[in-house]
Amino acid sequence: MQHQRMLPFKIQSMDSLGQGVSKETDKITFIAKTLPGDIGMARIVSERKGVCFAKLQNLEEASKLRIKPICPHFETCPSCHYLHTTYEQELEFKKQNLEKLFCKIPHPEIQVTPAIRRTHYRNRIQLHYHQGKKQLGMIDLKDQSIAPIANCIIGRDTVLEMIHKLYKDDFWLTLAKHEPMQGHVEIYELNGEVGVSWNKPYAQGGFTQVFDEMNQLLKNQLIRWSEKLPTFNLLDLFAGNGNLSEKLNYSNRLCVDIYNNVPAGNFLSQDLYDDQSLKNVKNKLQGLGVRPSVLVLDPPRSGLKNMDQWLEEFKPKHVAYVSCDPHTLVRDIMPLKNYNLIELHLIDFFPSTFHFETVAFLERK
Ligand SMILES: C[S@@+](CC[C@H](N)C(=O)[O-])C[C@H]1O[C@@H](n2cnc3c(N)ncnc32)[C@H](O)[C@@H]1O
Repeated sequence: MQHQRMLPFKIQSMDSLGQGVSKETDKITFIAKTLPGDIGMARIVSERKGVCFAKLQNLEEASKLRIKPICPHFETCPSCHYLHTTYEQELEFKKQNLEKLFCKIPHPEIQVTPAIRRTHYRNRIQLHYHQGKKQLGMIDLKDQSIAPIANCIIGRDTVLEMIHKLYKDDFWLTLAKHEPMQGHVEIYELNGEVGVSWNKPYAQGGFTQVFDEMNQLLKNQLIRWSEKLPTFNLLDLFAGNGNLSEKLNYSNRLCVDIYNNVPAGNFLSQDLYDDQSLKNVKNKLQGLGVRPSVLVLDPPRSGLKNMDQWLEEFKPKHVAYVSCDPHTLVRDIMPLKNYNLIELHLIDFFPSTFHFETVAFLERK
């Protein structure tokens, strides 16, 4: 049943998930789609001790930072968080967020690489569906509701065209006929072709970065960094298809990922969260006669909690940690006593949303 309790709010700041934060009552309230300076009423969605999550109900006074969102679904879709303000302001929120997270770690100035465009960039979009309820769209993890997004603007044009087709006359229901009642579907563009993939973890059998041009800018940062390094052997953890390290000037390379989809070269298929993973990677490297002096890692949001053990095992001189969740990045590098953080980059891979990539370049003392 829907929670009906209403709450007055006045937004004072933004949190790291792109939600406005209000402290008008004895509880801290997080409200998506609001901005500092907004005043109004919100409907409580969930609450626990000291904290409420609420949905914007009506605005009595609008923040000076507000603009009219360019997406017709912005108010109801849970996927974009910042289209009600300018891109410059969005980047500023992201930078402030990263700065705050790194406040306890000595770090150089954050270098920001803005997105080359704010919309029409995703080469793949995952939607959720419920056939019984005839619902297809973005899922809100707070209450599992599905918001339709037939006129979404976040995907590449080819992906958006396919999304239109799926919505037209509920065509998706015909395609989903042999699929489970509820699930997810990925609409993706690969090598100029658009595909639709039902209920698979990754549409093309493995992970690929969602924003091609920003991926290139990220790789350029890694190339620039590695060009300054003496001859090196490379260990690439959470390597996917070897995307990040393929163009680096290594002598030898070992790529490790849970999926084995690296086109060529040394590859180990290994669950890196398994207790034996460090030992297995070490054995593999010994078998190859390779000692890595450079480590590149790009884990999922959960990060690599025992990164300190990996670093003390291999003692790489240089490390590039690419992270899609700065919280786990900070958690993982905080305990490192033998490394200095020499460069910190915010690369805006996911404009319009609160997500971004962070790259931390570390050097052994
Ligand atoms: C953020 S992606 C990075 C991939 C790659 N570096 C790239 O740029 O395309 C994270 C990668 O971690 C892999 N992964 C997820 N869970 C894993 C696990 N338990 N063990 C090893 N790899 C895992 C995924 O397959 C995915 O390729």
